[in-house]
Amino acid sequence: MNQKDDHVSLNSPIPWVGPSGLSGFISSISPTSLALKAFQPDQPNIQANYIKVMLGPERDFLFHGSVRLIDGGIPEFIVDDDHLPILHDLLGQIRKNQHIEICQHDDVESSDKYTGFQDIQFTPEALPELDINQLDTASSLLGRRFDFPILITGMTGGVDKGTLINSRLAALAAEYNIPMGVGSQRIALDNPDYANIFHVKRQHPGIFLMGNLGFAQLRAANYLDLCQRAVDMIEADALAIHLNVIQEAIQVEGDRSFLGALDRLAKLCEELSVPVIVKEVGSGISANTARRLFEVGVSVIDVGGRGGTSWGYIEGLRSSSPQTKSLANSFRDWGIPTAFAVCAARHELPQASLIATGGIRDGLTVAKAVALGANFAGIGLPFLRAALLSEQELHNQMEVYVRGLKIAMIGSGCRSLSELKQKICLGHPMQRHFEQIVTAKGSY
Ligand SMILES: Cc1cc2nc3c(=O)[nH]c(=O)nc-3n(C[C@H](O)[C@H](O)[C@H](O)COP(=O)(O)O)c2cc1C
Repeated sequence: MNQKDDHVSLNSPIPWVGPSGLSGFISSISPTSLALKAFQPDQPNIQANYIKVMLGPERDFLFHGSVRLIDGGIPEFIVDDDHLPILHDLLGQIRKNQHIEICQHDDVESSDKYTGFQDIQFTPEALPELDINQLDTASSLLGRRFDFPILITGMTGGVDKGTLINSRLAALAAEYNIPMGVGSQRIALDNPDYANIFHVKRQHPGIFLMGNLGFAQLRAANYLDLCQRAVDMIEADALAIHLNVIQEAIQVEGDRSFLGALDRLAKLCEELSVPVIVKEVGSGISANTARRLFEVGVSVIDVGGRGGTSWGYIEGLRSSSPQTKSLANSFRDWGIPTAFAVCAARHELPQASLIATGGIRDGLTVAKAVALGANFAGIGLPFLRAALLSEQELHNQMEVYVRGLKIAMIGSGCRSLSELKQKICLGHPMQRHFEQIVTAKGSY
């Protein structure tokens, strides 16, 4: 199958109406066409020069084009070139909602959940001389001091649930004094009606908020303007640009060219009114690429490594093509494990501000990320799932992370986060020591 024939499959078919009382459902969508199913079996030869697609109340999309029969006799509505931007808007809205639904219900993480953090432990301190209520868990980023080294990483909320999800996440950020990112604001740049989804500072003006766009948006001629508009839209304190090559390359409607991104990032860092953060979403950033990013003026890097949410795999779940699904399966475990990426980036860039995201699922792993050099550990999927349930669920989840972090600190005898790095070891605590002693004895 040619990639251009790939379609996004729709689990809940979307209704359409056309001329002369024609009507039916859309069963799948490609970046240029919509596969039509007629309501009545007596409409086998659908002829229509327009169709109206109804995504929800007051969310109609009118397309001009023509019908063509594709393999198996399925009628496909080919959208006229000048209506393709409307089709992209429709696809964008469907995509965001699908991402939420898939992340909520499916197993979307790398198959073995290996982040590299499994290979390190802390050496316990049985006599810590510390009070768990007096530990210093504070960490700073971009000149702001936060109570915990935990970031609510930027996540799409979708059009239907975005406002609710973002407002719950923002309440958590305010309650715990931790930074928060929003998901891609592209949808609101294309259609200002959706800006409300991201306006969390209206309710929580004091939080530290990161805007978000993809590096695909840097290809637009007016990218500087788009990025500044994204910042102004939500009074962002920083703008995160996400890198997601594998996701885009597998996604049915993804961008395929990443030419010139670094030069444009350099210009953006010079011009934007707030600092620029660059984040991967699950493939990791190598030490070498981290250096190149810092050299062009990027202020913070989120290494976004392998082991957590796998975006290439998610795109396979959206596709109707068995070939794309099989490709997506083979890339499910692609990437630099999060622990390796953050450790290497810290080694390469001792002074840099670093975030470790990707598969961080408990407070102990937050402590390990900090010990390896992260200023913050970013958490995505678990916060999204909790936000879909309730504000209380989010609070409970955060409490478990905070307790886990504090237990790791007191258990290893660390009063502050900076002490954690002296207490990590590869493999089991004292294993190297044990091996040395036993080896030396054996040589007598
Ligand atoms: C539902 C969902 C939507 C996401 N949307 C975005 C997005 O719009 N922009 C972005 O930079 N990252 C997005 N991410 C990626 C996360 O910020 C994070 O990098 C990734 O999920 C890995 O972290 P995790 O393993 O803790 O989920 C999204 C993640 C989830 C789960």
